[in-house]
Amino acid sequence: MISSFKLLLIIISVAITPTLCGTCRFFLNRNFNYGCEMYDVNVTERNQNFVIGGEHLPGFSHADVRWLNFTNPGTLNFIPLTIFQSFVSMREAIIVEVEVKEIQRETFGGCNNLERINLDRNLIQEISSMTFGGCFSLTEISLSRNAIETIENYAFSGPRALRTLSLSNNLISTLPENAFANLTTLNRITLENNRITQLPENIFSTLTSLNSLNLHYNLLVSLPPRLFAGPRLLFSISISNNRLESLNLGADSDPPVELPWLWGVFASNNNISRIHPFAFNRNSSTHKLEVIDLSHNNLKEFAPGTFHGLYSLRTLNLNHNQISSLPNDTFSNCAFEVCRGALGLELSNNELEIIHSELFVEAPHIDRLDLTSNRISAIDRNTFSVLRSLRTILLAGNLCSEENFYSINVSNMPRVLESLGECFLNYDKLTGNLPGGSPYHKTSFVTVLITAVVSVSSFLSFF
Ligand SMILES: *[C@@H]1O[C@H](CO)[C@@H](O)[C@H](O)[C@H]1NC(C)=O
Ligand SMILES: *[C@@H]1O[C@H](CO)[C@@H](O)[C@H](O)[C@H]1NC(C)=O
Ligand SMILES: *[C@@H]1O[C@H](CO)[C@@H](O)[C@H](O)[C@H]1NC(C)=O
Ligand SMILES: *[C@@H]1O[C@H](CO)[C@@H](O)[C@H](O)[C@H]1NC(C)=O
Ligand SMILES: *[C@@H]1O[C@H](CO)[C@@H](O)[C@H](O)[C@H]1NC(C)=O
Ligand SMILES: *[C@@H]1O[C@H](CO)[C@@H](O)[C@H](O)[C@H]1NC(C)=O
Ligand SMILES: *[C@@H]1O[C@H](CO)[C@@H](O)[C@H](O)[C@H]1NC(C)=O
Repeated sequence: MISSFKLLLIIISVAITPTLCGTCRFFLNRNFNYGCEMYDVNVTERNQNFVIGGEHLPGFSHADVRWLNFTNPGTLNFIPLTIFQSFVSMREAIIVEVEVKEIQRETFGGCNNLERINLDRNLIQEISSMTFGGCFSLTEISLSRNAIETIENYAFSGPRALRTLSLSNNLISTLPENAFANLTTLNRITLENNRITQLPENIFSTLTSLNSLNLHYNLLVSLPPRLFAGPRLLFSISISNNRLESLNLGADSDPPVELPWLWGVFASNNNISRIHPFAFNRNSSTHKLEVIDLSHNNLKEFAPGTFHGLYSLRTLNLNHNQISSLPNDTFSNCAFEVCRGALGLELSNNELEIIHSELFVEAPHIDRLDLTSNRISAIDRNTFSVLRSLRTILLAGNLCSEENFYSINVSNMPRVLESLGECFLNYDKLTGNLPGGSPYHKTSFVTVLITAVVSVSSFLSFF
């Protein structure tokens, strides 16, 4: 009898204890935006009854809350409907590291004013269609470091001005063709560090504002030829640390994909052995491309012209490949235009044996040349009269020289040339030239012509 009375008491007390809920510390942040830092949340059931506790500052109410974040202790396996229904003016929600397992469209009822949502470091596995469909004002969605495996078609459709989407550090291996469809305002997408093995050819085709695409650290072996046909404003392509075997960026598709704004291609740490000769310059010229990183690949050779016409190129990283020889004029890119700025060329850790001056004839703007750890035994002494802007040349770990030279200038140039005597002599022997030949200009006709054209045009522009 007594025990059943106790039981009754317990039942009553459970019923009248307020439901476990989150408590807000309401305050004005540095920008005088009112918000809630929530603590002691414990939501482990879907649709768990949830009451928001905490004292408002005088004169403020739920409707004034502009931001929300969480602090320990906190578990929020399911985001209660109450949150977005109560804080209807919320602009920014930072729901990070609170073990969110699931998000659904209903979760965000009342999110009309939400501009940024950060759901990083949770346990979300799936993003279903139109999850953020009611959040028209969203410009940023971050879902990094979750356990996302599945993304449905139109998962991020709804927001009218979405600019940034981060899905890095998840478990994505495949994406449906319309995963990102209709995100015409998206500037930046990050898919770094997933398990993507292949991409549908049209997956980015409607992303007409996309300028930065990050696919670092995935398992891509190849890219569909027309992958970049839609995002015409693409500025930066990051595809390092995949398993790519060749690179063409759509140059060989019909018609060739145009990338007029491309500024950087980051493709290090792949297994690239073939590069389409027009991959970077689309068989014409580009004024934008400044950085190409092809380091740590499997490159042995290039087709002549691969790097021609890249007037703005500043950094070309080809280190850690297996390049044993390069076509003459490989780095020619000043031919019909004054070069823009200096070019740093990274060729360390390859298998180069001989340095011909012809390699650099049309690239006098190289200011830094890293040739460390090759097998260089011979260098054409004319190299130094061709490379008129050279400030740094690194030769440690080669056969005829082990020296690095920095801050080369008119006054220390004789010493540099003297230390490279053995390299020059070896080259003379190889080519049958008499040692001690003139170290002066063996300038090509084209260089003379261009110098003349440039002089005339600068002369004219003076008036
Ligand atoms: C959270 O709630 C669950 C059951 O709803 C309970 O088992 C757990 O102990 C609670 N955790 C904390 C920290 O209160
Ligand atoms: C929550 O946001 C407020 C205001 O921006 C900030 O002062 C506070 O440190 C944040 N708390 C956590 C746990 O990030
Ligand atoms: C995507 O855009 C197309 C064409 O603008 C439209 O027909 C379609 O309804 C849109 N789909 C979604 C889910 O917004
Ligand atoms: C690298 O590519 C070559 C083909 O060029 C292939 O035979 C080899 O298996 C690839 N290596 C790796 C580690 O994927
Ligand atoms: C490359 O361009 C030249 C003229 O600019 C043209 O004659 C040639 O056919 C082009 N080659 C390819 C493969 O598109
Ligand atoms: C580059 O030019 C030099 C000198 O004319 C020649 O000996 C060498 O074989 C050429 N290299 C290539 C790869 O064509
Ligand atoms: C050349 O560089 C050296 C440092 O390596 C410096 O001491 C010297 O003043 C420089 N000479 C000129 C003419 O700039």
